[in-house]
Amino acid sequence: MEKLWVIDFGSQYSLLIVRRARELGVYAELIPWNRLPPTPPSEVKGLIFSGSYASVSEGPPLPDTWIGKRPALAICYSAQWLAAKGGGAVAESHAREYGPATLEITDSSPLWRGVANRTQVWMSHSDTITALPHGARATARTSSIPYAAYEIPLQKVYAVQFHPEVIHTLEGSIMLRNFLYDVCGFAGDWTPEKEIESLIDALRSQMPEGRAIGALSGGIDSTVAALLCYRAIGDRFVGIFVDTGLLREGETEAVLEAYQAVGLPVRCIPASESFFSALKGIHDPELKRKTIGQLFIQLFESEAQKLTDVRYLLQGTIYPDVVESGAGVSATIKSHHNVGGLPEKLSLKLIEPLKFFFKDEVRSLGRQLGLPESFLRRHPFPGPGLAVRILGEVTPERAERLRRADALYLHVLQEKGWYDQTWQAFAVLLPQRSVGVAGDQRRYGETIVLRAVNSTDGMTAEPTPLPMEVLFEAARRILAEVPDIVRVVYDLSTKPPATIEWE
Ligand code: XMP
Repeated sequence: MEKLWVIDFGSQYSLLIVRRARELGVYAELIPWNRLPPTPPSEVKGLIFSGSYASVSEGPPLPDTWIGKRPALAICYSAQWLAAKGGGAVAESHAREYGPATLEITDSSPLWRGVANRTQVWMSHSDTITALPHGARATARTSSIPYAAYEIPLQKVYAVQFHPEVIHTLEGSIMLRNFLYDVCGFAGDWTPEKEIESLIDALRSQMPEGRAIGALSGGIDSTVAALLCYRAIGDRFVGIFVDTGLLREGETEAVLEAYQAVGLPVRCIPASESFFSALKGIHDPELKRKTIGQLFIQLFESEAQKLTDVRYLLQGTIYPDVVESGAGVSATIKSHHNVGGLPEKLSLKLIEPLKFFFKDEVRSLGRQLGLPESFLRRHPFPGPGLAVRILGEVTPERAERLRRADALYLHVLQEKGWYDQTWQAFAVLLPQRSVGVAGDQRRYGETIVLRAVNSTDGMTAEPTPLPMEVLFEAARRILAEVPDIVRVVYDLSTKPPATIEWE
């Protein structure tokens, strides 16, 4: 399969470049700059060198021996590095260039086909190119920098100091498409669905004999991974769903129905009592997460031990998880996995069929595999479930209170057409009591927080600007229908510094 390699020098946008290429039908992979083979593999038809957190004087080197071997688009830091090392010069900018700028095209380039002569681009750099490298010609400028883009035709290098991968570069997708289709010659016909048969074949050969087990959380990733695995090895795969009692309203039933609809056999372990008794008296968020994680593993393990010849553990790890946990250069590690520690304990081989796919691609795979649209459209939900949305002690009564409020809120969002316009929405229960009044009675009750965020991958998020009438309606229904709630508030925090979940 033909591939684009995005060489990562540590820019915050590196993974975004991969996404953009795939959106344009080109299969792309992120490769850290320090893990490159001596020459580009034959299936790699084009290269994009990313930006970086570093400046050229102290930053990582571009692979000299690769230049000229494949068409390459050099972005920001990489454009500067090639200029500085190729006989040009880079100097600190008088003003840090950050934000929108107007690009003025000064010479023809395959990148500019179909792009307006003046167009908005996104800049994010503190150095700038002051002299071009040997053999280069400038192709665009802005009012503050003379070399916003240049080319070295003999080396097949196309360099831009702005970020075409960011949506604020309004014609960035056209420029990327021009590079991928016209310069590199990619066909642009890759889709994740086309991978299904080869994924299934690969799973079959990875697991020639013995059983595989996998925990199903009700989420898309674990479900799609399980479906692929089931298609590959049939009944040798055993899916286990632990009902923790911490799911959303009606979710256990809906999830089990969806599994049934696609013919995926799953063992359901009812365990809500065990979870509530383990969580008794625990207020600390980390301790809550740990308690849930450990109990989950215990239950899963004892179910696995009832089976013979189990050799593999299936996990629904997706691409951003892999990159976040160290495959990229700009790694920040998150430990979101619910079954961490299990493979070593049970000496199982880890199987991760989705580790090169993005969430939206996993959704497309799921659609192709026959999962219902209502299942695919559901918002993300954390492994520890409602427990991280119940501040203070998690009791069955408080879980029920939150579940009710959350269901009413989501119902109002669906009714008003906002559910699909927000990336994730949910209610949170605070132990904070305040004074209310009902009829002539004083009520001293808990607080519900409504949260709705826009995000692309959960790494950063902004509060969704929900219309007041939607918020009023959700608050009205919660106050009327959920006993012991006397106050409803809306969370306006961005991530960072707040996280999306409250705990
Ligand atoms: P935070 O709260 O870290 O959440 O801003 C980012 C996204 O990840 C989800 N999340 C989790 N998912 N296990 C999961 O599977 C977890 O422990 C977990 N914690 C947070 C969260 O719902 C949001 O979409």
